[in-house]
Amino acid sequence: MRVTNQFPEHFWWGAAASAPQTEGASDVDGKSPTTWDVWHEREPEAFFNQVGPDQTSDVYHRYREDVQLMKDMNLNSYRTSIAWARLLPDGKTLNEKAVAYYRDYFQTMRDKGIEPVINLFHFDMPWWMMELGGWENPAIVEHFAYYAKMAFEEFGDIVKYWATFNEPMVHIECGYLGDAHWPRVNDFKRAIQVGYHTLMAHFAAVRVYRQVGSDGKIGTILNLSPVYARSDAPEDQEAQRWADLFHTRSLLDPIALNTYPQELVAILKEHDLMPTLIDDHASLTQEKIDFLGVNYYQPLRVKARDEKALTLERPSSLYASYDWPEKKMNPYRGWEIYEKGIYDIAMRIKNDYGNIPWFISENGMGVAEEERFIDESGIVQDTYRIEFIRDHLSWLLKSIEEGSNCFGYHLWTFIDCWSWLNAYKNRYGYYRVDLENDLERTPKLSSFWLRDIIEKNQLDI
Ligand code: BG6
Repeated sequence: MRVTNQFPEHFWWGAAASAPQTEGASDVDGKSPTTWDVWHEREPEAFFNQVGPDQTSDVYHRYREDVQLMKDMNLNSYRTSIAWARLLPDGKTLNEKAVAYYRDYFQTMRDKGIEPVINLFHFDMPWWMMELGGWENPAIVEHFAYYAKMAFEEFGDIVKYWATFNEPMVHIECGYLGDAHWPRVNDFKRAIQVGYHTLMAHFAAVRVYRQVGSDGKIGTILNLSPVYARSDAPEDQEAQRWADLFHTRSLLDPIALNTYPQELVAILKEHDLMPTLIDDHASLTQEKIDFLGVNYYQPLRVKARDEKALTLERPSSLYASYDWPEKKMNPYRGWEIYEKGIYDIAMRIKNDYGNIPWFISENGMGVAEEERFIDESGIVQDTYRIEFIRDHLSWLLKSIEEGSNCFGYHLWTFIDCWSWLNAYKNRYGYYRVDLENDLERTPKLSSFWLRDIIEKNQLDI
């Protein structure tokens, strides 16, 4: 087992969030609507307690206070995103108020020794782009590259770490194979095209980054779930390979290795699901990232289907999910907790992906009705979160000891944030936000615990 408790020098200790989940001010200072704003206006009952993106922790006005809280906790890095619809409200015209806000926000972090890690897209499609077809329109590749260029030019002197996307698989799956994201389409062929355009937009943004002569680093953030098979039986192993191919390799191989998995291409061809390629496909695919962000929450457990589907309607036509009897659950959110998954991902990146530099860009524990854990002093006694983080960090340390190139750990999230259709149902933060009391921020027990870990750069167990 592990022999060291010490994290590497300059290890990133931080937290992650996104613009649409924290900023609020959704129609202030020239910002145009996103799909979330429009959806909430049309159908508020789709959102938990009808709370929409206009009611977040109001970072747009309170970022200075929040950056001080980061500093109080010893954080040395922080990830958030830029809202495309705020920076370019019509896709073309730069919004100077947005530029001033983001510059000051990022500079405030830098002044306090906190590395800003800035992501370009976290599920928040501008409505003007949605009206042009959103991810289905190949023109989005150019629109996105232009947005990226503006962001790099306006903030590149302050921001040295960029991500093109957060969890692109989520806007593909939830928007085009389900109904949790707009436009709530259910069509595998369209989902594949959307995924393809997303990949091309990623490459185009990386290309622009190199072209503008930046001196920082660029990567992307993927949600990677290790896929475990029920058994060693060949049919379960095959189910595992298919699930891994669609959920992991479909994006990770092109992004990290600049190749497309040939088994995936073959099956898409066989089922007439190949996307229409854009002209620049071959040369764009050569663009390389500098680092990878990995969001890890829970694994995927699969088994062979009883009857193999004759048509490929969605990836899960090729496997069934499997309920592992030894599964440990987060009783407050309903997701599996499997700490070793973080180690398995680390080893996979080391062995199959050239040990590219990477960091945990999200990991965390959502808790519904977390107010039940507030004690008489007003502090959430989130010992379950401390245990969760400690156990994941312990496996992460073991992987680092075995040569993994992991350079940081960001918790989802810093201050409880608004989360899409779930709004404030599940709380994840080191800080609690009080929606009834002027959005007051109160540290949870975990924030004090982590502050000490960061100070020593060492895990106490
Ligand atoms: C992550 C996303 O996967 O899950 C976040 O990147 C999201 O944007 C988080 O808020 C938590 O999701 P939920 O559904 O538990 O609120």
